[in-house]
Amino acid sequence: MSIAIISSGGDCAGMNPAIKAFVDYCYHNGEKPYFIYDGLEGLIDGNIRVATHDDVAGIIHLGGTIIRSSRSKRFFDYKQREKAFNNLKKNGIDKLIVLGGDGSFRAMNQFYQDFKINFIGIPSTIDNDIFGTEYCLGVDTCLNVIRSSIDSIRDTSSSFKRASVIETMGRECGYLALISALTCGAEVCIIPELEYDLESLGKRLKKEIKEGRKYIICVVSEGTKATKKVVKWLEKDVGIETRASILGYIQRGGNPTTRDRLMAYQFVNFALEKICNEKSHHIIVYKDDEFKFKRVEYITSQKAGIEKIFLKLGKRLVK
Ligand code: F6P
Repeated sequence: MSIAIISSGGDCAGMNPAIKAFVDYCYHNGEKPYFIYDGLEGLIDGNIRVATHDDVAGIIHLGGTIIRSSRSKRFFDYKQREKAFNNLKKNGIDKLIVLGGDGSFRAMNQFYQDFKINFIGIPSTIDNDIFGTEYCLGVDTCLNVIRSSIDSIRDTSSSFKRASVIETMGRECGYLALISALTCGAEVCIIPELEYDLESLGKRLKKEIKEGRKYIICVVSEGTKATKKVVKWLEKDVGIETRASILGYIQRGGNPTTRDRLMAYQFVNFALEKICNEKSHHIIVYKDDEFKFKRVEYITSQKAGIEKIFLKLGKRLVK
């Protein structure tokens, strides 16, 4: 029988190194590797092909995913999942490695309930919002893209004595915003996990401006939907000329960092070692410096949170 790899949901840097590690492991261990193209949409449509060494040559430094991805609405429908299952059977695939986030793992849980699919999920999302793991592929590269963007924005912000509001991605999770704020020396950070107080923030910033502060860096997470409000508040209440930068999709791309490449290598090798030896419907997680396997329903039934230590540090930036 054979093993396939699929990427699903938002792409991230780290997926290509994982895909290369997958193909290399399979050939080294005498397994036949398959690619499922275009995510769950491609699985439904039977877009499946044997993977070769040539496919993965020269991809380790590329962001995105060479097998492409999708967010599939059709997969919510049992009939379409049945089609997807038959496509796996037709190709003799009985093991699946899934690079994806929370939504993809919920879809896999349903797929497992329906057809007892044998799979392992590898947390892959810039949002870092998967319960049970301290790391998801793509996060380090994304944080470095944000860091470099904020460093550039600071150049112009300081030259013009302006406030800059920088909106980061992350859905409902403020991890990217908070870590970026802490590592880029921001004065303010607005995330869904921490209550903010514009009145006391305003008092503090005005005092700091009086004492000589020339510009302000404020990081806002997209999940708060507060970017416009914060810009208006800085202009009207704090009294400083303000510009907003919505970083958007640059956060999903870029050359995978060493950390993402190494994490991809380890996630894939440990996942394949397990799935080649036993049946599985697990997610591989990284916690307390160890790789562990957790049942998919355990991971998808709970909500991830930001580590307390970071939230504690972030409290200074919300009031
Ligand atoms: O999950 C990754 C992510 O980039 C989120 O941070 C963002 O909210 C979302 O995907 C954007 O999704 P789409 O690619 O469907 O616009």
